[in-house]
Amino acid sequence: MKTLEGKHIILGICGGIAAYKSAYLLRLFIKAGAEVQVVITPSGKEFITPVTLSALSGKPVISEFFTANTGSWNSHVDLGLWADAMVIAPATASTIGKMANGIADNMLVTTYLSAKAPVFVAPAMDLDMFAHPSTQRNLQMLREYGNHIIEPASGELASHLVGKGRMEEPENILKVVEDFFAKSQDLAGRRVMVTAGPTYEKIDPVRFIGNYSSGKMGYAIAEECARRGAEVTLVSGPVAVKAKHPAIKVIDVESAQEMCDAAVGAFPSCDAAIMCAAVADYAVENPATRKIKREHDELPVIRLKKNPDIAATLGAMKREGQLLVGFALETDNEMNNAVEKLQRKRLDFIVLNSLNVPGAGFKTDTNKVTIIDNHGQSREYGLKDKTLVARDIIDVLREMML
Ligand code: CTP
Repeated sequence: MKTLEGKHIILGICGGIAAYKSAYLLRLFIKAGAEVQVVITPSGKEFITPVTLSALSGKPVISEFFTANTGSWNSHVDLGLWADAMVIAPATASTIGKMANGIADNMLVTTYLSAKAPVFVAPAMDLDMFAHPSTQRNLQMLREYGNHIIEPASGELASHLVGKGRMEEPENILKVVEDFFAKSQDLAGRRVMVTAGPTYEKIDPVRFIGNYSSGKMGYAIAEECARRGAEVTLVSGPVAVKAKHPAIKVIDVESAQEMCDAAVGAFPSCDAAIMCAAVADYAVENPATRKIKREHDELPVIRLKKNPDIAATLGAMKREGQLLVGFALETDNEMNNAVEKLQRKRLDFIVLNSLNVPGAGFKTDTNKVTIIDNHGQSREYGLKDKTLVARDIIDVLREMML
């Protein structure tokens, strides 16, 4: 079966003995229906000839920024946009270090830095180089960027030493990429609504009550759902981030009441709703129609009224088969508060993030969450980039879908 039919893959090859296996990997990709562009580092060419690779891929191999005889420029930006996946196999310690630190001194690393597609890295090196804290730290950085590391196997190495560092076999690398694409469309045909960002509650024409929510977590969730094939309605409060995926329809709102109206309107046709927005619990009862001026003798009093609880409203509307997910951002008594919200709002699961963990919560690019479901099961995750947190949350959502 052509499991990678029509997929565009950049195969990055670095200078290591395992480069001879890249020719075989390239053949497997082509047989699976992919179109492959090879990008090789200068030292990669010492290990495998571009002639072999271009014959197998049916395309000239790219290595330099300019093609020597014509002077034409090889655009790493265009390549990065063309690709559905970039697979770097073998990845040497040196290239991994350059990727982790943005040292863009060759075509492979510039292409990596421009690539919007998922990146798979299959390290190959001697066991001591692999075990060195520098290599491990760089690999950890790549993981945090969202790259997929295909762990090397243990076995006899080119040095005749035995240990971990041997590039994973081409068949297994193919399988990782195939699985990724199979899973990557696991929300095809589903509709998901996401609320994101803060709400603004008007005080007068120039002032509002708001909060520090950046919208990053909600937007990352919307992107993840769209990337996995869902049609997404993103009901968004005022934020600076922008939705990128074409399958995301954004409904811009300002107040909690507007967000509630949009969410109630969209929910009936959705399979799931994920409530990421930091909704103001109170609105101003009578917002001034003119700017409140300073020259009053007595201090102005702002009377508040309760806003609708959007998650609880959707919880009450929820049909059989629909899933509802909430967030809880707590400072104390975290677990009990989260479970209480899960039950009160009739959620299927709640994502607890603590304001007490450095790097988690509002404004940051990272988050650390615990997911608690309505069967009492809880799963704790490490501190990671919000795009990876979004992946974990959507994995749980997908598991729960019928
Ligand atoms: N939520 C909502 N509408 C509201 C308040 C909250 O939809 N008016 C949603 C949030 O998007 C989140 C969950 O409910 O998914 C929990 O939000 P949180 O502010 O922690 O809960 P509250 O019910 O407001 O409780 P409190 O502020 O007392 O902690």
